[in-house]
Amino acid sequence: MKNIVLTGFMATGKTTVGKKVATTMSFGFIDTDRLIEKMANMTVSQIFERHGEEFFRRLERAAVKKVARLKNFVIATGGGVVLNPSNIVQLRKNGVVICFVARPEIILRNIGENKDRPLLLSDNPEERIKQLLKKREPFYKFADSTIDVSDMTIDEVAVEVIKAYI
Ligand code: S3P
Repeated sequence: MKNIVLTGFMATGKTTVGKKVATTMSFGFIDTDRLIEKMANMTVSQIFERHGEEFFRRLERAAVKKVARLKNFVIATGGGVVLNPSNIVQLRKNGVVICFVARPEIILRNIGENKDRPLLLSDNPEERIKQLLKKREPFYKFADSTIDVSDMTIDEVAVEVIKAYI
């Protein structure tokens, strides 16, 4: 069966929902950020700090190429995967791409004290989220479907993902 590919903005629950959907569907689960960390033997934050975003995007592209070959997997991707159209084209060949979005205040709440997202380290994270959301919105239309997860529980989102897939 085709993969279920979860993309969309940071801190919208791609990994948490992805693991749940994988269990329900008896699919495997993989997260591209974890794969990148294994490939580089560094955390995502360390990659950004030491080598910059462009280098991270190159590793991300390589990770996408790898996971796109899988079958019967839920693939949770980093939020920036959408920025490279080749990533989405490749993931859609053998997968249904579902994009999560949420209102800025929900994203801010979900991030809490977590400092693992280098792109959101800012004196004004809410403003940063708004800017990034605006910049990324045009890319979300390349997904097969989009879910606004703002007012949903994890379980509700998981149900919507499966509905979008079947
Ligand atoms: C990024 C999202 C992160 C991670 C990196 C860059 C982005 O993943 O890949 O920090 O550009 O949106 P999550 O979406 O899982 O937070």
